[in-house]
Amino acid sequence: MKRVYIETYGCQMNVADSEVVGGILARRGYGFTNDMSDADVILVNTCAIRDHAEQRIYGRIGLFGTYKKQRPGTLIGILGCMAERLRFKLVEEEKLVDLVVGPDEYRKLPELIENAFVGEKGIATRLSRVENYEDIVPLRTEGISAWLSVMRGCDKFCSFCVVPFTRGRERSRSLASVVEEVRTLAERGFKEVTLLGQNVNSYRDGEYDFADLMRSVAEVDRTMRIRFTTSHPQDMSDRLIETIAANSNICKYIHLPVQSGSNRILELMNRTYTIEHYLGLVKKIRTAMPDASLTTDIISGFPTETEEEHRMTVDLMREVRYDGAYTFKYSPRENTKAWEMVDDVPEEVKGQRVFEISQLQQKISHELNQRLIGKVEQVLVEGPSKKSDEEWTGRTDTNRTVIFSKNGEASGEYIDIVIERCNPATLFGRRPGAHSDCKAGFKTEAVTQ
Ligand code: SAH
Ligand code: SF4
Ligand code: F3S
Repeated sequence: MKRVYIETYGCQMNVADSEVVGGILARRGYGFTNDMSDADVILVNTCAIRDHAEQRIYGRIGLFGTYKKQRPGTLIGILGCMAERLRFKLVEEEKLVDLVVGPDEYRKLPELIENAFVGEKGIATRLSRVENYEDIVPLRTEGISAWLSVMRGCDKFCSFCVVPFTRGRERSRSLASVVEEVRTLAERGFKEVTLLGQNVNSYRDGEYDFADLMRSVAEVDRTMRIRFTTSHPQDMSDRLIETIAANSNICKYIHLPVQSGSNRILELMNRTYTIEHYLGLVKKIRTAMPDASLTTDIISGFPTETEEEHRMTVDLMREVRYDGAYTFKYSPRENTKAWEMVDDVPEEVKGQRVFEISQLQQKISHELNQRLIGKVEQVLVEGPSKKSDEEWTGRTDTNRTVIFSKNGEASGEYIDIVIERCNPATLFGRRPGAHSDCKAGFKTEAVTQ
């Protein structure tokens, strides 16, 4: 049996896609290994969102080459968004690469791999208007939380973004097939499912929209937590906000990327909303769900961004007080609209702006976490913590990580935890009535971006 090793970069959709690839290959008799040196096929599912993401992959390809030398005949395949973006160039530039397969061509993998074993390099990067892998059973390893892509592609064409080029046009799975898959996951004992799409709230199946899908999925099993990502402010309907609020098992956690606090920059970004509209949404969300957790993405140093416009972003963050924010330096991507603009904010200034924003966010996150000290939070136990086998890690409904001492619990259980202390990224607590003996977390950790 040939063994496959898959390494995954990028967003959760790539994680879900790697499970689809696993499903396709398992069905054709392939085995899997976590040890690269033991693999007959090394696949890397790549991201093209920023230059930095691609540079990391180039570094990995070099390393794969050393394994190929040790085990001649090992195949190296590049999947995902970078494969889609660079296509032939990857095979031309990187002689070690045998396969280049874009996100909509994974069904061809078994055939391409077989051909590659007899020396024929394979490239498949056609994008599809319909492919959604609805009938493929993903090879899921973990038993508590599942990713489930409900739509693929993106039609928004934000001027900085490669996704519409690497993932193609928007298309959704049928509501019935998603509900069926969630039912199967519930039967298998999964406790949490995250519905995924680059633009998940523009989901549509005939007359059903994302609010309908969320309601139907939530009804499958009320002990199962439902999450979703990523929502675009333009498609955040009142009905969706009401649906999240009305269903106890839909997590009160909304990732709503704003990108910038300046209307002029938002327009140049082609984000299709204004700050006033965005703040209106925040208000609606907080009115309907006062305890909801809100997170965002920010790009610093978009072409022509002035210091004053950067200040507007800082002011926005002070006003909204996000629970978390992912902050990025603008990275020009070929083919996008913004690529034609001059990347005129110096690297150093981008760095300073990102630093200022992430420092501010850390401070706010810490303050918001501190407010939870002494409160009881329901935590879904996910597994042993990274630092100690004696401790569990789990998450609250609002997606905060909680660490606490083991005391006979099992993964997948819901446990009430009293929060005792925190840092900007993590809460630490104990079972009500239990002694406080949780050792982790005295050091304040940086929030990684
Ligand atoms: N579909 C989601 C997010 C897509 S990518 C949305 O629309 O919100 C995740 C984040 O990467 C984006 O929100 C954006 O903040 C960032 N990003 C995308 N392209 C980028 C680029 N060229 N440079 C820097 N950051 C970028
Ligand atoms: Fe990219 Fe914009 Fe689509 Fe998000 S909505 S994936 S940022 S084009
Ligand atoms: Fe990256 Fe592609 Fe996701 S570019 S962020 S892996 S959709």
